[in-house]
Amino acid sequence: MSVDVNSERGRMVAVYRRFAASYAGGGSPEYERIALGVAQDERLLDLVVGLPAGNKRQPNLLLGAVRFLGGPTDSFEGFAGWVVEHWEQVRGVVLERMTQTNEVRRCATLLPVLASLEGPLALVEVGASAGLCLYPDRYRYSYDGGAPIGAVESPVLLECATRGAVPVPERVPRVVWRAGVDLNPLDAGSEADVRWLESLVWPGHTRQARVERLRAAASVAAAEPPLLVRGNLLEALPGLVAQAPRDATLVVFHSAVAAYLSVQERERLEQMMGGLPGHWVCNEGGRVFPHWEGVRAPEPTDFTLAVDGRVVAYTGEHGQSLTWR
Ligand SMILES: C[S@@+](CC[C@H](N)C(=O)[O-])C[C@H]1O[C@@H](n2cnc3c(N)ncnc32)[C@H](O)[C@@H]1O
Repeated sequence: MSVDVNSERGRMVAVYRRFAASYAGGGSPEYERIALGVAQDERLLDLVVGLPAGNKRQPNLLLGAVRFLGGPTDSFEGFAGWVVEHWEQVRGVVLERMTQTNEVRRCATLLPVLASLEGPLALVEVGASAGLCLYPDRYRYSYDGGAPIGAVESPVLLECATRGAVPVPERVPRVVWRAGVDLNPLDAGSEADVRWLESLVWPGHTRQARVERLRAAASVAAAEPPLLVRGNLLEALPGLVAQAPRDATLVVFHSAVAAYLSVQERERLEQMMGGLPGHWVCNEGGRVFPHWEGVRAPEPTDFTLAVDGRVVAYTGEHGQSLTWR
């Protein structure tokens, strides 16, 4: 197929090829094959181009929608035929939903930082999805296979490999208040929302463990739902900060959110955090802030973890590892 790179279709070919590389890097050959297949299939490219421009055309959303509806993703041929036949349903889910993977294991990489702050803590997560990372005190943790610490009865065990002088805590911090904001908050008590989060977990060797953790963490959040507000983080944050109890240490944190923000929005976020009556914990991929120039994570997919603007560690994108700087 000849591709005009300046056409809408040509741009989608590039997007799906780029994603194929990241699926390959992320250990999901199944999605890699499908993304490469879409990039060569005129029928599918035309369907994707018929979606509203921007986030609605991204591969993660299309693949998540197909999984959510029970469609096949084990071969490109099966996937393509099914998508063409069920396009109206797929389109409906794509238009209704957003990609908002909630990875609870990231708490394992945040814990050493949170536990080092004077408690008790009042947590605010911006870009919280279903808020599963708002419960660091309700999970158990094992670093490098060591004896678990944390909430003894918790159904969630978060395992993490460390490198360098990670200050592994002996106990989890006391959290007295938790709140979050999201453009589209998900409800950990809703079967459909949890199934959507499951559908966003890529196939591959880590999928089953990730889905089990997700389900267990959702049961924790559903038992004690957090205050989650709908809105743009830049607008909603001051209101949430004002509601936080004064006699607790405020911590505003975010992970895997900056990619959704424009450069100008990131600058505004950084300015807001500078004036915060508390701490700012940032766990993000890539070079999100200009002053991170020169900061190089050990693995290309690693996130950078910064406290009050200072880089302290690199973290596995799904919380599987923590490399202290
Ligand atoms: C990839 S998810 C990460 C969720 C969670 N922080 C975690 O680490 O598991 C990113 C979330 O940020 C939210 N988001 C993106 N831009 C936002 C904005 N401007 N204001 C509020 N939420 C936003 C998305 O809706 C999504 O739920």
